[in-house]
Amino acid sequence: MSKLCFFVQYLPIEGLAAFNKATAELLFGADNPVIKQGRVATLQSLSGTGSLRLAAAFIQRYFPEAKVLISSPTWGNHKNIFNDARVPWSEYRYYDPKTVGLDFEGMIADIQAAPDGSFVLLHGCAHNPTGIDPTPEQWEKIADVIQEKKHMPFFDVAYQGFASGSLDEDASSVRLFVERGLEVFVAQSYSKNLGLYAERIGAINVVCSAPEVANRVKSQLKRLARPMYSNPPIHGARIVANVVGDPVMFGEWKQEMEEMAGRIKNVRQKLYDSLSAKDKSGKDWSFILRQIGMFSYTGLNKTQSDNMTDKWHIYMTKDGRISLAGLSLAKCEYLADAIIDSFHNIS
Ligand SMILES: Cc1ncc(COP(=O)(O)O)c(C=O)c1O
Repeated sequence: MSKLCFFVQYLPIEGLAAFNKATAELLFGADNPVIKQGRVATLQSLSGTGSLRLAAAFIQRYFPEAKVLISSPTWGNHKNIFNDARVPWSEYRYYDPKTVGLDFEGMIADIQAAPDGSFVLLHGCAHNPTGIDPTPEQWEKIADVIQEKKHMPFFDVAYQGFASGSLDEDASSVRLFVERGLEVFVAQSYSKNLGLYAERIGAINVVCSAPEVANRVKSQLKRLARPMYSNPPIHGARIVANVVGDPVMFGEWKQEMEEMAGRIKNVRQKLYDSLSAKDKSGKDWSFILRQIGMFSYTGLNKTQSDNMTDKWHIYMTKDGRISLAGLSLAKCEYLADAIIDSFHNIS
């Protein structure tokens, strides 16, 4: 076969085999029994969004009675995805404005109150937009309720390795559910952690109770993918498979991710230090240190966020979310001045 012919061929509907193997192993761990037993249906799909959309189509077709529970707030596109797939959804409490932390009791109560067999959409790590993740103990309790209610956990993992700096640590929430023997849906994205935004590379993984079930699920996912986009693009898949498959490049990637996550943690610390030093009101800003990932929910409301932009020329989403990835250490003091002004002088 000539090289040219190799480059112009389509991928199979399910994507590049080497990518699918690598992505499932990164997520669950190469030694995870679910991989060894062939219980995971993995399909390369169009990044995180496309993987979520494919799973939404699967839910619509095979679980027509089920609804999806989505955190309040959540990444803006989640609602669009389920609306477009005609999957009913409702919200569970997540963010507590009083503590700028997790409304854990509210979350548990809402998951508990949902009809049995609902899909519960969870952010695997670095919750977007809040940056607030459950603690390991809270994840255990969330898993308890999901198990008790026979719900289906559905993870959106868009930041693996980018939150803590460790691929394994950031996958620990997903692995906890898998260890309990639950069936789990997981959408993955390589936009952030490998910077492959425009390659549209990600995957949908469904952990099933048995290998035969995984085969059937995979076959049905392929049936759904075929009329949507036929087959996924090859370039990003090759990048991921090559990086993960080469010990030197894999090591470099992990190191770079650790550096990126470390840089964001430093900026977080500096912002917290600046706020604490400058704000004489005694307000506790430590919630910033408890958040994780590239975003911080500042607790500023819409009017206060408008003040950040109009007066201080700081551009952020109107829900009070700032991106720490775009912040340098040198700008932390200025940002702290702007936040303090907006918080105390604007209601
Ligand atoms: C929570 C979450 N899920 C999914 C995505 C999907 O991103 P992409 O489609 O680029 O992989 C994002 C991107 O911002 C996100 O924040």
